[in-house]
Amino acid sequence: MATEFKPRMLGIVCNWCCYGGADLAGVSRFQYPPYIRLIRVMCSGRVDMSFILRALANGTDGMFIGGCHLGDCHYVTHGNHDAINMVELTKKILANIGVNPARLRLEWVSAGEGIRFASIMNEFAEQVTELGPLGKSEGMEDSDLKLKLEAVTRLIPYFRVVQNERLHVRRDTEQEYKEYYASVECDRLFRELIADKIALSEIMMLLREKSLSTGEMANILGFTPSEISRHLISSASQGLIRYDADQKRFAIA
Ligand code: FES
Repeated sequence: MATEFKPRMLGIVCNWCCYGGADLAGVSRFQYPPYIRLIRVMCSGRVDMSFILRALANGTDGMFIGGCHLGDCHYVTHGNHDAINMVELTKKILANIGVNPARLRLEWVSAGEGIRFASIMNEFAEQVTELGPLGKSEGMEDSDLKLKLEAVTRLIPYFRVVQNERLHVRRDTEQEYKEYYASVECDRLFRELIADKIALSEIMMLLREKSLSTGEMANILGFTPSEISRHLISSASQGLIRYDADQKRFAIA
């Protein structure tokens, strides 16, 4: 008999609002799935992209971030605005590597919203259960998923610089943030500043294992051979990789 898929889910919630909401849900006996584990941090702005990528690499199927409503963050740095920028960029990065961005969810919950907390948890758990296991549901082998997550994890310091300098916007409402991150302008910046770096990082990760031909890399990474060639040409000109003419394969220089 097939057993029902029970997702592995992790929530990172801010101490002052969302954790209070979770606590209220508990004392009020509002039910939500017990397999959602919660970690408390002082502010949603403390949640780093590396936490999310590490959780996914360790088999988390759904990742929840919870903070105070916009305008209610308890810190003068307005950490929840940092959180929404970080989460929106992380969603774009996940989509780029073939991971369903719906596996990452950010919500604002106040300490008095126990019922809202439980209802979000129930809805998200249902959604992640429908999505199925991370990787398999995306049509990826475990090894490919790990490679792609590792490739983007290595770029986190670079993503931070790009986010600070070019992709960190300040908006008043969640809707306005979503509109910005779905905009043509944001997509252009993402393509120009981030997408190529991810592809190159994936190629370098592959070549660290063994030398490969253009076709083999295209097959593994799901790119066209011409996309791979474009990255190989620029990497070769920068001295990052070399071509072994005898073997007709590329390798780390
Ligand atoms: Fe809750 Fe900053 S203190 S989001």
